[in-house]
Amino acid sequence: MRALSLRGWGGTTLTTEWTIREVLNWTRGYFEDAGIVQPRLEAEILLAHALDVDRLHLYMAPDKPLTSDERSLYRSVVKERQSGTPLQHVTGEVSFYGLRFRVDREVLIPRSETEELLDQVIKRAPRDREIRCLDLGTGTGVIAVCMARYLPQAQVTAVDISPTALEMARENSKLNEVADRIEFIESDWFTNVEGKFDFIVSNPPYIRRDELADLPKEVREHEPSVALDGGTDGLEKIRLIAAQLRMYLQPDGVVLMEIGHEQGERVKKILESIELVHVSVERDMAEKDRFVIGRCPS
Ligand SMILES: C[S@@+](CC[C@H](N)C(=O)[O-])C[C@H]1O[C@@H](n2cnc3c(N)ncnc32)[C@H](O)[C@@H]1O
Repeated sequence: MRALSLRGWGGTTLTTEWTIREVLNWTRGYFEDAGIVQPRLEAEILLAHALDVDRLHLYMAPDKPLTSDERSLYRSVVKERQSGTPLQHVTGEVSFYGLRFRVDREVLIPRSETEELLDQVIKRAPRDREIRCLDLGTGTGVIAVCMARYLPQAQVTAVDISPTALEMARENSKLNEVADRIEFIESDWFTNVEGKFDFIVSNPPYIRRDELADLPKEVREHEPSVALDGGTDGLEKIRLIAAQLRMYLQPDGVVLMEIGHEQGERVKKILESIELVHVSVERDMAEKDRFVIGRCPS
C-alpha cells in the first residue's frame, strides 16, 4: 500500500474498495515518509475533516468505502498537508481548551502552552464577583473566549493591532457564544484601552528576531511575523507592555504572561522593576520556564 503514489491513488484501479481503514494506513505511511511527526493522528484528523464527521466515527465504521467525491476531497487535503501547510490551516480550525476555533494564516495557531497559561488564569480568578479581564494580543481570541466561557462573571476586553486577527477573534467569540461578553479593540497594546483590570493576560510575540529564520519552515512560512517577532532580544514587546501595566491594573490585579523558556528571570526583573509584587516564574508541562505572574500592590 505504501508504495502507491498519491497520483496513482484515485486512479481507476483503486476506486471503491478504499475503506477508511485502508486509507488511514496508507496515509500514515505517506506522512511518515514526509517527516510528519504524528502521521496517524494527522491522517485521522484530515479524513474526519474531509468526511465532515468526528474522528470517533472513523473507528466506528473502519470498513466503509469512500465515495469518489470523498476520496478526491481527502486527496486534496492530504496533498496540501504533505506540501508543508500546517494541519490547522488545512482544516481551518483548532481545538483549544475544549472549544473549537477557526484559524487562518493571518493569526497564530494557538499552542498547547497557552492552554496552560489559561489554567493559571482560571485557578486564580474569583467566581463570586464580576471581574474585568484584558487579553493583550488576542490573535484567534483563544484567551479572551476561554476567559468568557469559563469565568461566568468576567467582562473581557480583547486587543490586537491586526484588524484581520480581530475579525477572526470576533468570529470565534460568536462560534463559542460569548460575543456579548467580549469587547474587541484595535489597539497598539494599551493605546485605545480604557479603565483598569483585575486580570491582564498576554501571550505576546517573544521570539528573538535573529531566531525567526531558524523556526521550522511550517511556522516561518505560514504564520504571521507580527505574532512572533519579539525584537532584538525577544523582550521588546514585553517591555512595552510592562511600561504601561501599572496604569491598567486594579490594586491586587494580576498579570500573567507567556514567555520564552529562557526569559523567565529577565521578565521577572522587568515586572519587579515596575514594583509588582509576588512575581513568580512558572513552568509548563515540559518543565520549562513559560509563564511570569505578578500582582499589583493593594
Ligand atoms: C503570540 S500571538 C498570540 C495570539 C493568541 N493570544 C494566542 O495565544 O494564541 C501575539 C499577538 O499579538 C499581536 N500583536 C503584536 N503586536 C501588537 C501590538 N503592538 N499591539 C497589540 N497586539 C499586538 C499579534 O497580532 C498577535 O495576534
